[in-house]
Amino acid sequence: MAAVILKGTIVSAPALGQLEITEHGFLVAEDGVIRGVFPVLPEQYAGAPLEDFGDALILQSFADLHLHAPQYPMLGTGMDLPLLDWLNAYAFPTEARFANPDYAREIYRHLARELVENGTTRVCMFSSLHTDATLILMEELEKAGITGYVGKVNMDRNSAPGVLEETTEESMRETLRWLDACQDFRCVKPVLTPRFTPSCSNELMAFLGRLAAERALPVQSHLSENQAEMAWVRQLHPDCRQYWETYAKYGLWNSRTVMAHCVWSDERERTAMRDAGVTAVHCANSNQNICSGVAPVRVMLQEGVHVALGSDIAGGDQLHMFDVVAATVRASKARRILDGWETDFLTVPEGWFLGTSAGAAFFGEQPGFAPGNRLHALVLEDGTLPQPHPLTAAERLERSVYLRQPGAIQAVWSEGRKVFSAN
Ligand code: GUN
Ligand code: FE
Repeated sequence: MAAVILKGTIVSAPALGQLEITEHGFLVAEDGVIRGVFPVLPEQYAGAPLEDFGDALILQSFADLHLHAPQYPMLGTGMDLPLLDWLNAYAFPTEARFANPDYAREIYRHLARELVENGTTRVCMFSSLHTDATLILMEELEKAGITGYVGKVNMDRNSAPGVLEETTEESMRETLRWLDACQDFRCVKPVLTPRFTPSCSNELMAFLGRLAAERALPVQSHLSENQAEMAWVRQLHPDCRQYWETYAKYGLWNSRTVMAHCVWSDERERTAMRDAGVTAVHCANSNQNICSGVAPVRVMLQEGVHVALGSDIAGGDQLHMFDVVAATVRASKARRILDGWETDFLTVPEGWFLGTSAGAAFFGEQPGFAPGNRLHALVLEDGTLPQPHPLTAAERLERSVYLRQPGAIQAVWSEGRKVFSAN
């Protein structure tokens, strides 16, 4: 692959709360790997093809570390129930439709396009329990240029018998069939996905823990999202003091584990996350929509927990990560109020870091446009917004987080490849 050289106002998040800004700079990648950001193009690249985006912003693309692909058809609906009722009334019946591969193909193709066109190039995603639809999802993501992890969901109890539930034997057999079938994907890889503790028998959890160890697979699930859910987990596992121990007990708790929500994780549970290197995925929209609570993200960060962001569609109503970053900052202000003004809210650069660099870290990347990272970037042309006086690059980024700008994304790169171009 030849060199890719992008010229524009380059903004990246090299550390929590910091922005690195290079006005009219050059972002250079070779063979898909970033070589650097330069204020002046190094001589060795003189004459190489260059894409000049003028005054546009060149930004890191997003990592969405928690979303449910088969809930995409219900996006923006069904927000009137708390988690456990919401699952039964809305989420399970919607996911059940993905028994039909043709339906899955159509919906997942649409989802993959919408992700790419809105600058999400890395994901950690739940499918449904259906093996064939999960493989279709992986194909469509890979075709669209999205990278990351997708999981066939495991759920063998307390779900929707006859509609959306497996037997333990089926769940194990289908997981193995799925893993065999996904060996040829290049950029989309499998992640083991016990839906959450209430929907997985102990036998299934133990099987998945062994599989994670034997095949060195990552794991994703839900943790301490809602208080009724937590009470249920205590009933199901009276031997465990806290929710996280139901995962740890079965080998599902390590540095390749992603746990969505963690709204109610107390200091002891957060310490267990930090010590094991588990990534907590904050899903601000979903936590508000289905009345789960307001996660203490500032405290988690201060304690050294890895935190990334998730759209969590369709508990979350926004797929686009600009909106998710704005929701994260807003939620942190609600948290500050709940904390009696004791904790600081998150700044926009902090929210931006969580939606980009912190998520990419789960895939082994360094923060920002660090040399050695794969090229994942987007170009945002914000010139259509009224601009009565000149704005700094940081102000333009802030405004882009808060204001929707349909059509503003000009181009997107993923794994060094241009995967979207507006014209
Ligand atoms: N816990 C178990 N399943 C789900 C789901 O689909 N969405 C959310 N938000 N939480 C869950
Ligand atoms: Fe979720």
